[in-house]
Amino acid sequence: MSNNETTQQKMYYPSEASMKNAAISGMDAYNALCKEAEADYQGYWARHARELLDWKQPFTTVLDESNAPFFKWFPDGKLNVSYNCLDRNVEKGLGDKVAVIFEADNGEVTKVTYKDMLSRVSKFANALRGMGVKKGDRVVIYLPMSIEGVVAMQACARIGATHSIVFGGFSAQALRDRIEDAGAVALITSDGQHRGGKALPLKPIADEALTLGGCDSIKNVIVVKRTGGDCNIVAGRDIWFHDAVEGQSEVCEPEWVDAEHPLFILYTSGSTGKPKGVQHSSGGYLLQAVMSMKYTFDIKPDDVFWCTADIGWVTGHTYITYGPLACGATEIVFEGVPTYPDAGRFWKMIQNHKVTIFYTAPTAIRSLIKAADNNESVHPKQYDLSSLRILGSVGEPINPAAWEWYYENVGGGRCPIVDTFWQTETGAHMMTPMPGATPLVPGSCTLPFPGIMAAVVDETGTDVPWGQGGILVVKRPWPSMIRTIWNDPDRFVKSYYPPDFQGKLYLAGDGAIRDAETGYFTITGRIDDVLNVSGHRMGTMEIESALVAHEKVAEAAVVGRPDDVTGEAIVAFVVLKGPRPTGDEAKAVVKELQNWVGHEIGPIAKPKDIRFGENLPKTRSGKIMRRLLRQLAKGEEILQDTSTLENPAILDQLKG
Ligand code: WTA
Repeated sequence: MSNNETTQQKMYYPSEASMKNAAISGMDAYNALCKEAEADYQGYWARHARELLDWKQPFTTVLDESNAPFFKWFPDGKLNVSYNCLDRNVEKGLGDKVAVIFEADNGEVTKVTYKDMLSRVSKFANALRGMGVKKGDRVVIYLPMSIEGVVAMQACARIGATHSIVFGGFSAQALRDRIEDAGAVALITSDGQHRGGKALPLKPIADEALTLGGCDSIKNVIVVKRTGGDCNIVAGRDIWFHDAVEGQSEVCEPEWVDAEHPLFILYTSGSTGKPKGVQHSSGGYLLQAVMSMKYTFDIKPDDVFWCTADIGWVTGHTYITYGPLACGATEIVFEGVPTYPDAGRFWKMIQNHKVTIFYTAPTAIRSLIKAADNNESVHPKQYDLSSLRILGSVGEPINPAAWEWYYENVGGGRCPIVDTFWQTETGAHMMTPMPGATPLVPGSCTLPFPGIMAAVVDETGTDVPWGQGGILVVKRPWPSMIRTIWNDPDRFVKSYYPPDFQGKLYLAGDGAIRDAETGYFTITGRIDDVLNVSGHRMGTMEIESALVAHEKVAEAAVVGRPDDVTGEAIVAFVVLKGPRPTGDEAKAVVKELQNWVGHEIGPIAKPKDIRFGENLPKTRSGKIMRRLLRQLAKGEEILQDTSTLENPAILDQLKG
């Protein structure tokens, strides 16, 4: 790559090397794909669906818009996702190719070939069928990063069961809520998990969840032995994973499902209290998982692909379990954390496994920058990272300083960074550079994925001119989009196709601005009450509900404030039922409330900063003034007129 400073922003152009053999080589090729989609939208997606997926029964209809916004893609086509990820690769002669390189927290490496993977998945799929799990049943998976996690997901896909993964860091209460909402028949978990040199329990949390009520639908609990097996096994309900697969056949006929069959439900935070179960399809979802592997990551047979996300998040679904395997790629699955045994772990793993494509979150990069600044020995320059050819970023905006560090120190100034904007709801990348084509601007996700009709509009849904900020929308349905919110179709319509836009534009929930010259998109952040902490989505109302569920709390308001490492940090303003605490007493209550939120939702939701007031700043009509709270959270002076406040003196108490 070379720099060019003729425009105001520094641009990084693709090198000859990254253009050579790229799936999209040069902007003409990118523009040609965009034009193809514009000229014949359905034809564009249909062509890719025929070229990239194997269908048991070919589709004749591409897009059914008759019940918009409940769109259907390839509705009369039939396929199986697990077949597309495993069998067809074995049939193509890739049976002995390594599918998964699993590296454990302690550094132990296990390699699983496509043939092995197919055998493991088939055995477990047969075990699930034997328990009576069938097409359309929901299965909740509460597992750490593991081979079994990927196997469990693929096995569900194989028999047409709809999986719903709950991130291993969520609490018993959060797990319970999701099991109940999904009406799951089985739960797959493990005795515990290894993270950062420690063994942490998981099964006891699952046990607690099942006692909280509402989980009667669960008939079977399958337990992976990971940390030693010292856990409660309930006779008649629980079975060890290794016992369940023992003696099962390695052959399992896939369940051929309609393209629209729900492959998974994944819960994510929205602006109102309850997490929403985002429902995804089989055909359309897999299509864009594969397309984005091909175009955004330019995946090639010799690549070693590493996405550092957890399978508990959508990034782990699309870019660990489904996308790479459907492409016959070799990928890393990592159990541990980036800072154990030291903050050079990622770099060491890239060196050892000769990783060629590396995909991580800005929070991880920022924390590793800090670590490298403090300790030369974990600086990426100490490692041989010459195998890398493409870097990726996902989950939150990447600040230009972190981008440049990543580019220079990890990519050696050679590797394009694909800053991929997308969401749980979108299933796959929506806006991203193409590594062999798009000139890069640090901090910008640049341009839409070919075929995605992204735009920036005002409140009436009218396009705003480039250079002017607005609301990010998508103008046409796309194959991997959310199909509905599980159990709540009205909320789906309200959240994503609001009447403000005549129900015609998909509302992403983010603000965006297009560069006046290049038209490049930059995401300006959420426009709803959703926070992004370390790339994890958290609803402020979810945290507020958890806080007010504590016996001492009368009222709580939660806002975000910028944070150097985690992007945003959670700040909670709390009114206790008793007197406002100060000094050591306040510190003790802060700890108590942090632990409480950790227990109610999970450690990721713990407020970093909790402040107490005798009341919250409210208008005379009783509305909490969040704008003021955001300013207070940031430590800004309140300069505006606060005379509409019922009780302006409160502001001093909440300054922190
Ligand atoms: C944010 C993660 C800026 C955004 C795949 C979005 C980003 C939310 C980027 C979705 C990016 C994701 N640049 N912001 N490259 N990627 N976001 O559902 O606010 O966990 O709406 O999906 O993360 O988070 P989710």
